[in-house]
Amino acid sequence: MSSDGTDLILVSNRGPVTFEAGGEVKRGGGGLVTALTGLASHRDAIWVASALTDEDAAVAAEHDGRPFEVTAPDGSEYRVKLVASDPEAYDRFYNVFANPMLWFIQHYLWDLSNAPDIRRNEVEAFEFGYNAVNEDLARAVLDEITDRDEPVVMVHDYHLYTLPALVRRERPDAFLHHFVHIPWTQPDAWRVLPRNIRTEIYDGLLSNDIIGFHTRAYRWNFLQCCRDLMRYDVDFDSGVVWHHGGHETWVRAYPLPIDAEATQAVARRERVAEFEAELQRRRREHLIIRVDRADLSKNVLRGFAAFDLFLEQHPEFHENVTFVAQLMPSRTDVPEYAEYLERIEALVAVVNHRHGTPDWMPIQLKLRDDLDEAMATYKHYDLLLVNAMFDGMNLVAKEGPLVNENDGVSILSENTGRTRSWASTR
Ligand code: F6P
Repeated sequence: MSSDGTDLILVSNRGPVTFEAGGEVKRGGGGLVTALTGLASHRDAIWVASALTDEDAAVAAEHDGRPFEVTAPDGSEYRVKLVASDPEAYDRFYNVFANPMLWFIQHYLWDLSNAPDIRRNEVEAFEFGYNAVNEDLARAVLDEITDRDEPVVMVHDYHLYTLPALVRRERPDAFLHHFVHIPWTQPDAWRVLPRNIRTEIYDGLLSNDIIGFHTRAYRWNFLQCCRDLMRYDVDFDSGVVWHHGGHETWVRAYPLPIDAEATQAVARRERVAEFEAELQRRRREHLIIRVDRADLSKNVLRGFAAFDLFLEQHPEFHENVTFVAQLMPSRTDVPEYAEYLERIEALVAVVNHRHGTPDWMPIQLKLRDDLDEAMATYKHYDLLLVNAMFDGMNLVAKEGPLVNENDGVSILSENTGRTRSWASTR
């Protein structure tokens, strides 16, 4: 433990909170924040993250770039250090390289006959965007661990693959742990990247002592990439990769759980009850739900197309079923995401027009992020649809069944992460 008592450094792009205009504090969205909340609020940790809004950058500047205490809207307390990067570098990092390039590679989303084109824009986005933000965060981590012996640094996700090499170079004694919250694809999916970029990514990751994935399949794919793409020595049984001078990295599968008590506490909130009353008033006899970010990997269009076909083939369900889809708009500065959202809205309009009646709208589309509203639907669904094509660990598929009061069933596609962790615990 360090001299000031803080024994853990967490680092991720998105932090537990963001500041909005007017000083309002908002909880950071997404699975990573949900996953780390317990760890960060129960242990003495500093959470290093990017400043995502102008207000984040202003608050970081007020604290001279040093860590500060903050309370999230749900009452959890954190010690955070927000790091502002150059806006142009951040745009290249987030909107060109991390999303869509890496995200698409890691979810098999590229339609290779059409995209991606790896031109100067993409190469420079790696060099001057992705690496620049990784350097900013690495520097913030290094500053924080200056006075600590053998510090423990936990790095998170696909945004920060090159950061560990920078920390390792300065601090060979650090214990570096990297958790990848999304799938890891097979070697061929990675061949789309130029060899030098690929090498920097793998060398960065293999500077860690441990790399964790949600499932054994993703762990296996990573080991295969290390052997077949990078020609490193790999032991598949023990999950060890040796690279550069014999540095040993352990590769492990840690399926992420949810905090059951915290989830149940949210389900008991008064505001959830208000949403439940509204839902029960508007729904028909059968309730189908989905809750997702509006992301191409979530396979939203096929879900609605399947519902369309279902209504066509089962007229007995007309006026008898409601499909509530709560989708959080995401990464809308990335053209592929903006277009996907438009296609979702258009398809919902078509299905509602085709089957709806003056007083029955088959699909209720809610384009917003509201945990309480989602929780209300979790409690009452008959059917929860989670049909992502690939997901690291879909937490909706865990939260829904935990709080559902209706003997609801789940439809899970095979690669939601959840499906595999279910199978592996049996
Ligand atoms: O799944 C990976 C992840 O980083 C999760 O935290 C979250 O579900 C999502 O991506 C958040 O993405 P973004 O930070 O781009 O909104």
